[in-house]
Amino acid sequence: MNPLRPVILAAAGSPRMKKVLTGTPVTAGIVRRFVAGETRRDLLPVVVDLLGSDRLISVDFLGEYTTDRARADATVAEYLSLINDLAALGRRDPPGVEPAPVEVSVKLSALGQALPVDGPAIATDNLHTLCTKAAEAGVWVTVDAEDHTATDATLASVRALRPEFPWLGTVLQAYLRRTESDCADFAGPGSRIRLCKGAYREPHGVAFQHASEVTDSYLRCLEVLMRGAGYPMVATHDPVLVRAAEAMAAETNRPAQRFEHQMLYGIREAEQLRLTEAGYALRVYIPYGNEWYGYLTRRLAERPANLSFFLRALVSRS
Ligand code: FDA
Repeated sequence: MNPLRPVILAAAGSPRMKKVLTGTPVTAGIVRRFVAGETRRDLLPVVVDLLGSDRLISVDFLGEYTTDRARADATVAEYLSLINDLAALGRRDPPGVEPAPVEVSVKLSALGQALPVDGPAIATDNLHTLCTKAAEAGVWVTVDAEDHTATDATLASVRALRPEFPWLGTVLQAYLRRTESDCADFAGPGSRIRLCKGAYREPHGVAFQHASEVTDSYLRCLEVLMRGAGYPMVATHDPVLVRAAEAMAAETNRPAQRFEHQMLYGIREAEQLRLTEAGYALRVYIPYGNEWYGYLTRRLAERPANLSFFLRALVSRS
């Protein structure tokens, strides 16, 4: 894990930093590398292009930590329209055992989980609305993982809805000390788990801090999922983990259609194509919308080269 990551994430939380980053035209170029655009109109050609290259897709409408009910409702409305548009491009009827080519990813804090009164119940209701629509449309839904204070509420929402929507997926973060045990809980038949390293600034008590500890935890968690009866989603760009997933799948006799690799839009494009050509299912996570600040700063924090590219561009303009 990049040692500067906690510093960059802490700085990104300052309103002054937000003003600087969002106020310069230089940022627009960097945003475009990681975000498909601000509107569904910008997004859809990107989706068509990726599906045309045999990649699967998952779309995230950007936004998080909503403390306003009207905003949560507007997010639900946008997702309903998004599901309609995506269904026209790649529906799978009904969503079930075979990988659905199109999926939406959603943060429960954008659906109202952080509202002061009944937040988790409101977010669960809103997630139910999205899953009902997605089931009709033949589209999958996966719930993103946010900071560790939300983990219990998020997993409770997913557990509540899985009996009705068994294909509802969720993300687990390997940097959390609890995750190996959560993987064991969620490794049952049909369970779709997207395993990632984790992108937030977390305290030592709840999360591994060193890159090697996170990698080791990822490998232990992945082994639990690969040996389980669910559908593992291997969300990483790390070559060591990508290779480990391939080796574990071979060792556990898991066919290429019973798990998938996942990468973020704009990252390791050549590797995405290599995996697709090698016959693996590869899903690209595509964010869009104008609330890109939190997403962008997590991508900058993951890789110092992204940040220095940004700073060089900033200096050369001044
Ligand atoms: P690592 O950071 O070690 O990167 C390995 C290599 O990948 C790097 O050496 C570089 O080549 C490339 N790379 C990685 N990040 C890059 C970047 N930003 N820019 C350029 N190159 C980069 N996190 C979370 O907390 N909650 C969530 O819900 C999700 N959801 C999610 C979905 C999907 C599909 C993916 C792929 C990832 C997430 N994440 C996430 C993010 C995840 O936790 C993690 O922060 C990033 O994937 C980076 O970690 P890697 O495993 O790629 O390894």
